[in-house]
Amino acid sequence: MKKKANEKAGEVSRRDFIKASAAVSLAAMGVSANRIFAAGSDKFHVALIGCGGRGNGALSNCLAAAKHIGREMEVVATADWFQSRAEGTGKKHGVPNERCFYGADAYKKLLETNVDVVCIATSPNFRPVHFEAAVKAGKHVFMEKPVAVDPPGGRRIIEAGDLAHEKGLGVVAGTQRRHQNGYRRNAYAIKRGAIGQILGGCVYWCGGALWYREESNVDTDADYLVRNWVSFTEMSGDHIVEQHVHNLDVANWFIGHPPKTALGFGGRGGW
Ligand SMILES: NC(=O)c1ccc[n+]([C@@H]2O[C@H](COP(=O)([O-])OP(=O)(O)OC[C@H]3O[C@@H](n4cnc5c(N)ncnc54)[C@H](O)[C@@H]3O)[C@@H](O)[C@H]2O)c1
Repeated sequence: MKKKANEKAGEVSRRDFIKASAAVSLAAMGVSANRIFAAGSDKFHVALIGCGGRGNGALSNCLAAAKHIGREMEVVATADWFQSRAEGTGKKHGVPNERCFYGADAYKKLLETNVDVVCIATSPNFRPVHFEAAVKAGKHVFMEKPVAVDPPGGRRIIEAGDLAHEKGLGVVAGTQRRHQNGYRRNAYAIKRGAIGQILGGCVYWCGGALWYREESNVDTDADYLVRNWVSFTEMSGDHIVEQHVHNLDVANWFIGHPPKTALGFGGRGGW
């Protein structure tokens, strides 16, 4: 009855929303969703691991999306390497300090809360560990790109993705070109044969030097790496993995499969 009433009012129930988002995201991962569930009230509980620039943006996007479809969403917890960041983001969203976790194991404490959907936006070296833990805890996930910085991390993500599929969880990655109208229009035209079969191509990413954050006088070496992750290949995967992943994703998408052969080269300026 409630479902019918919602449909009549042009609304989407919490269960249907998760089901639809999960179906779309799992389809994006090349699998089909056949068992999706979400229990509890109509309110979504969201939490953020990695309260930096993109994490705060992702949380705002999430809240705006919920508002757009007329659903209530509450930020229930935050986690960051640094206390000030976890609490700073928590303060913006009315999260009490006792649910603003910080330190290397902050994500574990966050996953013990009643969160339904976890947004993960730390530097990418931590992504496989955080994603795997979130899936094991039965949470739906939005995670930023790139999802790993090396092959072992990539394999761990694939295994956790399979587990998410088995559990019927929704997973979305931040390769946002797939959701941009311009790209989607071109993808549709190409799929309909506008330029024939794509046999090869080039994708480029040109940009300036990235940011550098001054070392604080209380920083440990680990703190310094976390603050300046873009300058360390082991934290970021470097330019091709960290930024160019967007355009590599477009190439795979438009060709319809990964290319048979590929050649990549590049360099990054730094401080
Ligand atoms: N899709 C996009 O267009 C887009 C845009 C910008 C950034 N990103 C991605 O988002 C991610 C974050 O980028 P950013 O610019 O917000 O970086 P940032 O440095 O501003 O934020 C990262 C945050 O994560 C925290 N953090 C790092 N390790 C942690 C850990 N182990 N546990 C908890 N917190 C931890 C840091 O303290 C920091 O607050 C990157 O993967 C980046 O590539 C994507």
